[in-house]
Amino acid sequence: MAYSQKVVDRFEDVLNNPASHGVGRFDPKDPNIATGMTSAPACGDVMKLDLKVDPETDVILDVKFKTYGCGSAIASSTMFVEMLKGITMTEALEIKDKDIADALELPPIKLHCSVLAEDSIKQALRDWDEKKAKRKHNGGPE
Ligand code: FES
Repeated sequence: MAYSQKVVDRFEDVLNNPASHGVGRFDPKDPNIATGMTSAPACGDVMKLDLKVDPETDVILDVKFKTYGCGSAIASSTMFVEMLKGITMTEALEIKDKDIADALELPPIKLHCSVLAEDSIKQALRDWDEKKAKRKHNGGPE
């Protein structure tokens, strides 16, 4: 199985410039951070996604991630980070693993690696909904 050139290029660039690809995390105490963490049942690899969200508009302002996984998972994570910036949390749910896999030309045996990204945004949205509900309960903006 050979990785596509797109996967190889991204993976190498992440190793050389991790910060420019959003590798890392935000302050977990920041109330405007939504976090999603998921693992791939097929291999046990893990992705953690941190989204900085505008509480008034639900627009994703910035993204950071940490992925413990293969080259396809790392490349998928960086592709996902780029797709998420500037869109709303609801719009983010429209991005499917297939969109990422197609963009990176993942071979069939590595398709599950892009599922991490799709699952992590679902978890992050759940976290964001809980934070919004708590804010509303405490009298703040929704
Ligand atoms: Fe585990 Fe790719 S082999 S995410």
